[in-house]
Parts: sequence; structure tokens; C-alpha cells
Amino acid sequence: MNKKKTVLVAGGAGFIGTHTTVELVEAGYDVVIADNLSNSDRSGVEGVEKILGRKMAFEIVDCCNEKELEEKVFSKYEFDSVIHFAGFKAVGESVSEPLKYYSNNFMSLITIMGLMKKYNVQNLVFSSSATVYGQPDTLPATEATPRQKANSPYGYTKQVCEDMIEGMVAANPSMHAIALRYFNPIGAHPSALIGELPRGVPNNLVPFITQTAAGVRECLSVFGDDYDTPDGSALRDYIDIVDLARAHVAAVSRMVDGKNKESYEIFNVGTGKGVSVLELVHLFEEVNNLKLNYKIVGRRPGDVEKIWASTDLANAELGWKATRPLGETLKAAWAWEKHVRGIK
Ligand code: WQD
Repeated sequence: MNKKKTVLVAGGAGFIGTHTTVELVEAGYDVVIADNLSNSDRSGVEGVEKILGRKMAFEIVDCCNEKELEEKVFSKYEFDSVIHFAGFKAVGESVSEPLKYYSNNFMSLITIMGLMKKYNVQNLVFSSSATVYGQPDTLPATEATPRQKANSPYGYTKQVCEDMIEGMVAANPSMHAIALRYFNPIGAHPSALIGELPRGVPNNLVPFITQTAAGVRECLSVFGDDYDTPDGSALRDYIDIVDLARAHVAAVSRMVDGKNKESYEIFNVGTGKGVSVLELVHLFEEVNNLKLNYKIVGRRPGDVEKIWASTDLANAELGWKATRPLGETLKAAWAWEKHVRGIK
């Protein structure tokens, strides 16, 4: 990279945004964070600043508010690329409050793409999700695996947003976009200065595990042991948050360096390995040298039985590969929970 390129990280105070900001800056990019702190707080940005030893450009702004986003962000800085994380992500909540998800997840993308066009910002990386695949007929899921009807409004927003981006890029030859389909992001930065901060009772497995280990939750419920898998519990592809963050750097660099083959591309971001809930629980106990209180309960409605990624395309095209061993990721998740709870 010759001149330092500047990336707008929309939703940059959250779990994936903070880790991606750290990796971008370490790779030589300038970053501007925009976030309305609706599902995050300043401590995320402060953690980033501690890790990097510098102040970050940070604007508190709602990415659905065009006027505000233009005034505080697009007219004030010059960007080469945008990474868009500013969306809601709780599957269960999206079922009970679909309009909240439609309005926020669609409007933020529409607003951001409109301003990118107005200010001639060419490159977009979008946070998509393996949820677009549903339960694939064949595994691993490749980028060509057909998407299935979404089983939540959250999943539906990811599918529609992917299609909106495809249409926008087709209509604007100077625009390029990459959608990254994340599998199950977990863990925390090795410094334990940034990590996941779920509000209320966590829905996702790893925050529930770490909160149980910390005594905040009494007992972990393992949802189902009668799946068609080696130990009966469901299989997922758990991807370390730092590895995931680095996939965003690779995606931005691919477009900045003009290496993308199509103007709109999609890549899976996972490890390529399916790990069961019980395997994950036992590995967490082993690497952190503790016992977890858990019980087997019935299946959780809406869960798929098993899914993991084919990472061939991301390996070949992005030159990216997951590198962090799962045990290290689970140690980092526990170190972060201890940091949050003040446990020695
Ligand atoms: C993983 C496994 C559960 C909690 C969801 C979204 C996906 C992405 C990530 C992003 C499943 C089991 C869980 C618990 C358990 N969203 N489990 N006890 O459902 O694979 O994916 O989060 O923003 O789009 O769909 O992740 O972490 O909730 O569950 O046994 O208390 O752990 O049944 O098998 P999921 P998860």
C-alpha cells in the first residue's frame, strides 16, 4: 500500500467491529469508527485505543440517518472503503420484533450505499452470515450452495441485503463489494481488552459458557443430544474473532489493490471444521482447567443440525485462512469474561 487508505467501519464499536479495527490499523489502514452505541458502548472503542496506543476517529451516529451520517462522517472524511457492521443480530429477537430488524438492517445499508455513491466511495465489505444457507443438503457449505428460505427475519435481512448489494454494484460500474458469510464467531482479542459484550441473557453458546463459568448463570443448557452427529449434539464451525477480523482486512485489500475478479464476490469465513456443542464444552473445561455446570435439554426451535464451511474459495482468492487453534480461542474467551467480571 502506498498512501494510507481510509476505511469507514460502520458499527465499529461492537464485537466484530472493534477486532476488525485493530487488525486494519495494524495492517496500515486509517480507520474512522461510526456507531450509535445502540448495542455496544464506548468501552469497546477505549479497548481498541489501549491495544493500539492511539486515539481513534470515532463518530456517534445512526447509520440509518442520512443527514447525520453525511454531516458527521461522509462530508468530513475521505474513504476508499466501507465495512458495514451496523446491524442487529439477535435471531430470537428478530422473530418477535421483525420490523425493528427490517427497518434497521435495510435502512442502514441503503443509507450507506447511497452516500458511498454520492461521495464516490468504491469498496464495500458486508457482514453476511452462514444463516443464509439454512440446513444445506450437502456439507461443507460452499459459496455456491443454494440459499434456503430464511428461518428468521434476521436471516431474511442478510439474504435481502446481499441481493441489494448485488443490484447496486451491477448498476454502478465503479463500485465493488464483498459479502463475507460468517459461520460462528467466538473468542476475544488475546489482550483481553476487547471482546463480546452481550446485553442480558446471552443467546449464543460461548458467552453463555463463559458467564456460567463466571457464576453469572447457574447452568448451561445444551440444546439437544439426539441429532444425527457423532455425539448427538449439533455441529457448528466456530471461527476465532481475530481470524475473522483478518478476513475483513484481506477483503478490503483485495478491492483496494484491484485484485477482485468480479465486482460482487462472496466468501465463507469459517475454519472448515464442524465441532459439536459437547466437544466445545469439554475443550473449554480442559484448556481453562475448570468444570462447567451443564445439563442436556431439548432441541432449540429453529436450530440446524450441522453446518460447516468450505473455506477453499477464501483460502485461494483472499489468501486468508483461519489460524488460531480452538483451544486458544476458548482461553481468550474466558480471559475476556474474567476481565469483564473483575475475576483474577
Ligand atoms: C451454537 C450451538 C445451539 C446456546 C447464530 C445465528 C448466526 C450467527 C451466530 C450472528 C447451537 C447450541 C447455544 C446455549 C446451546 N449470528 N447452544 N446452549 O445458532 O449456530 O448461530 O449465531 O450474528 O446467524 O443463527 O449460534 O451460538 O446460538 O448456537 O446448546 O445456551 O450451540 O443449539 O447448536 P447459532 P449459537
